[in-house]
Amino acid sequence: MLKILAFESTCDETAVAVVEDGRKILTDQIRSQAQLHAIYGGVVPEIASRCHVEAIALLAQQAIDAAGITRQDIDAVAVSYAPGLIGAVLVGVNFAKACASALGVPLIPVHHIRGHIAANYLAYPELEPPFLCLAISGGNSLLVDVRDYTDMKILGCTRDDAAGECFDKTARVLGLPYPGGRPIEQLSQGGDDSKYVFPIGHVDGNPYDMSFSGLKTAVINLVHNAEQKGEELDRPSLAASFTKAVSDSLVPRTMQAARELGYKKIVVAGGVAANARIRRDFSEAAAREGRRLFIPPLKLCGDNGAMIGAQGYYEYLAGTRAGSDLNAYATMDI
Ligand code: KG4
Repeated sequence: MLKILAFESTCDETAVAVVEDGRKILTDQIRSQAQLHAIYGGVVPEIASRCHVEAIALLAQQAIDAAGITRQDIDAVAVSYAPGLIGAVLVGVNFAKACASALGVPLIPVHHIRGHIAANYLAYPELEPPFLCLAISGGNSLLVDVRDYTDMKILGCTRDDAAGECFDKTARVLGLPYPGGRPIEQLSQGGDDSKYVFPIGHVDGNPYDMSFSGLKTAVINLVHNAEQKGEELDRPSLAASFTKAVSDSLVPRTMQAARELGYKKIVVAGGVAANARIRRDFSEAAAREGRRLFIPPLKLCGDNGAMIGAQGYYEYLAGTRAGSDLNAYATMDI
């Protein structure tokens, strides 16, 4: 049984987990800073870095205690080293380096989006590559051909905003708190999703590339125009129509890729995968076409340490190792 101590600090969650053989969570400790950033309407990078520094050591000890293990039981340390807010990622990378060195165990660098994909291995013991994955989070929207645990190819990505970013910016214009995905979902309850018609982003060239900036601008214009004219908007219907537009730009595109590449298994990952409407649309589309859908339970959709431990295990098996010169990166191909 290989026990990995895993760190995640790429955005506004400090997370430390202990994962056994890539599939079993012994503990998954998460400290979110979201409330702190909420007053600014988005993540303030410098504040994020400082909060990670304050939280990480205590959280690591809490994780070891909660897992019921000692430091000597740890076989390897994994860390999310890209992509993310550079100052935030650096905190996790440096702490993980110190842990690996002090414990005398291997250090495994893990790509954050690979981690999101691997969250599904924790939820579905039977899931194995190859499969098609749509990774939708606050900073990324990618359609990925997952050929093997550590062999992936990007089929398409957003040309502008990420899907989660679009939720967050729409929430902001509606006066809802950050992060905006969940508040928009709550507001949309009982709304009529056909009341407002929003554009679905299409981009020339690659059919798998996405675009969300036109949708974001359409919502902003609608809200500002209504304010100027003193008109009352039907906010639940606006939230429901907006969510439908996001879903309509994700689900058909993913299903098209599954048909064209011949994938029977479709995996959805990342914070936006928590959205009930998007989950429902995916599950209906997959059932219609006889494909199997995998979406993590809500607690594994957002950033967490367990997903880094899961992917870290497969990186470990593939021989991926880092030394004390490991750096953090704001951007990186998957
Ligand atoms: O994966 P994640 O926790 O962080 C990144 O790696 O970026 O994703 C955070 C994003 C935020 O943009 C948040 O608004 C969105 O996921 N999100 C949701 C929901 N819950 C979180 N979007 C739509 N519906 C939700 N229920």
